[in-house]
Amino acid sequence: MAVFEFKNVTKFYGANVRAIDDFNLLIPDGEFTLMVGPSGCGKSTALRMIAGLEDISRGELLMDGKIINHVPPQKREAAMVFQSYALYPHLSVYDNMAFPLKIKKQPKDLIDERVRDVAQILGLSELISRMPRELSGGQKQRVALGRAMVREPKVFLFDEPLSNLDAALRAEMRIEIAELHSRLKTNFIYVTHDQVEAVTLGQKIVVLKDGKVQQYATPHELFRRPANTFVAGFIGTPPMNFLKMGLRRADDGYEMITENLHIPLHPTYRPNFDQYKKESIIAGIRPKDLSLRGKTALDKADKRCTIKGRFLLKEVIGDDVLYYFDLSTDATDGKPLIVKANVSLDLDRKQTVDIFIDIKEIYLFDIDSGKTLIQQ
Ligand SMILES: Nc1ncnc2c1ncn2[C@@H]1O[C@H](COP(=O)(O)OP(=O)(O)OP(=O)(O)O)[C@@H](O)[C@H]1O
Ligand SMILES: [Mg+2]
Repeated sequence: MAVFEFKNVTKFYGANVRAIDDFNLLIPDGEFTLMVGPSGCGKSTALRMIAGLEDISRGELLMDGKIINHVPPQKREAAMVFQSYALYPHLSVYDNMAFPLKIKKQPKDLIDERVRDVAQILGLSELISRMPRELSGGQKQRVALGRAMVREPKVFLFDEPLSNLDAALRAEMRIEIAELHSRLKTNFIYVTHDQVEAVTLGQKIVVLKDGKVQQYATPHELFRRPANTFVAGFIGTPPMNFLKMGLRRADDGYEMITENLHIPLHPTYRPNFDQYKKESIIAGIRPKDLSLRGKTALDKADKRCTIKGRFLLKEVIGDDVLYYFDLSTDATDGKPLIVKANVSLDLDRKQTVDIFIDIKEIYLFDIDSGKTLIQQ
């Protein structure tokens, strides 16, 4: 059981690489916390700091309220599980799992009891005398987990533990790890660059970019109330569409315009703008909030909620169809607009199509900082 707190933590590698930048985060006890972000954003560094494998250039790291910046790894009672299983090839499953207790010189019968218990929990009892080379990838990963569990650590640290496994096995192991967490109720801190993995596993997710915390929230909050354009674009598949638009007052509220687009803002957004003095804005629209047919409630939508796009291509993914459109505007920074629908329409390339926008679902961000303008 442990609460971890980063207070203004910064980490330099050499003089120039700032891997972690003024990091502030409180990770409560017993939670399943996910850290997610693109490659190089500092996830492994943050995790390794908790394990005590990386020194801290500035700031403080606390465990249960005590500063642990200089506490050596052995004293932190953290167990780390990596992408590579790092099993000892010449030791059996049993001996691999017993190893951390043997080096701690624990009594033999206690070791035996712990190893057999853990093997049972992880469904490894039958495989206990096999050698690592006789195991599948998923089984090896389970042994690596078992080796971490026998020590009854205060925190489990996972660094992309499933990325060597194929998609089906990864999904299966995810469920196992989630079950393990609800059983052990120990802190799990899990790093991944895969936002889908993050939202399926985590109770709370830390989104990182360039060594900085972008947002720390539940999966639902990240999706519904992203703090900035980075989080908005990172969480959710396919990613949110962004449009840079001019903003001006209209009779009944506000509207967004570019040379050829005209999108009214829903009246409920009005309170956000009475202080916003800028003339441009970033609008975010999720592909699911766009549609190609006016059959639903959008039928009644005002014409101004319709924009025109030139069809580029479509992609069928299971029950969903993704359509890509060219809006012939600089507003999208040259990116196609993505529409997610569950109908497959036959469209001709370059055909002009009406696209309906559910204007109640538009996200708005500051043009300069990218921060959300929707009140949290
Ligand atoms: N030992 C090191 N020396 C110098 N720079 C390093 C070292 N380790 C990491 N870095 C740099 O620090 C930054 C953060 O690295 P880190 O390994 O924490 O990223 P990450 O988020 O885990 O990335 P990935 O998803 O690729 O594993 C990167 O810019 C990386 O190049
Ligand atoms: Mg990493």
